[in-house]
Amino acid sequence: MKRKILITGASKGIGNAEAQRLSPNSELFLHASEQSSFENKISNAYYFGYDFSKIENVDAFVNELKEKTDKIDVLINNVGIMILESFANFKDEDINTLITLNLHSHLLLTKKLIPMLLKSKNPHIIFMSSMSAKNQIEGESVYAATKAGIMQFAHVLRNELAGKIRVSTVHSWGVNTWGDPEGSPILVPENVAEVIEFILDRERPFVIESVDLSHELQWKGTHAPWSPDKI
Ligand SMILES: NC(=O)c1ccc[n+]([C@@H]2O[C@H](COP(=O)([O-])OP(=O)(O)OC[C@H]3O[C@@H](n4cnc5c(N)ncnc54)[C@H](OP(=O)(O)O)[C@@H]3O)[C@@H](O)[C@H]2O)c1
Repeated sequence: MKRKILITGASKGIGNAEAQRLSPNSELFLHASEQSSFENKISNAYYFGYDFSKIENVDAFVNELKEKTDKIDVLINNVGIMILESFANFKDEDINTLITLNLHSHLLLTKKLIPMLLKSKNPHIIFMSSMSAKNQIEGESVYAATKAGIMQFAHVLRNELAGKIRVSTVHSWGVNTWGDPEGSPILVPENVAEVIEFILDRERPFVIESVDLSHELQWKGTHAPWSPDKI
């Protein structure tokens, strides 16, 4: 029987690579901000367009999802954006957008979907966090706060749902979703998709709680090439 897998932020980048990798053995439910964001649609998939930077859209999305299925086997909380700025110069609305999209929408969606996941024989929730959650990269203060929030939330949720729903978290250094030349010292979305498939294919009661991913030659430090100048 094919697993019913919901991936948020699945129109491009890491979420799209996950959808491509998992599609042969899954019935996919794919979310992005708009249905028109999806190119090259997969045949065994449902498509949804909801802007999660407006928190009320999470409820609207869940209502439409329930028209298509009453059960979900896997929830991949992948949606997220990065806004880079020195904190002193951060726009108020950008702080709000990052916290709503990268953190609040994940918590609310997860809460709304727990009853649908509990209908599965082998339910799993995966959160896409980031190595920003564990580092001190200048310009990423708000992004890091959301990703550290997700990391810690997932740790507690794993304990609360133990024996019922497995919970895993993925932390990655940079993944080339912006078109660096091929061969650049950075991961590609397919690397993350491979790890997600590996996590999902482990048999219970084994759970991969958390993984850290990097390219072996990848930039690591506190003042990144893309960090803003000091104020
Ligand atoms: N790339 C990296 O270096 C990296 C590293 C570590 C962790 N991550 C995390 O991995 C996840 C995926 O990142 P990515 O680099 O693959 O991103 P991406 O290529 O920019 O894709 C983002 C996805 O999220 C959707 N999205 C963006 N804003 C949205 C909104 N307001 N409402 C609903 N959907 C929205 C996009 O849909 P539309 O096409 O409709 O905009 C798209 O499907 C994020 O959580 C990110 O923080 C990324």
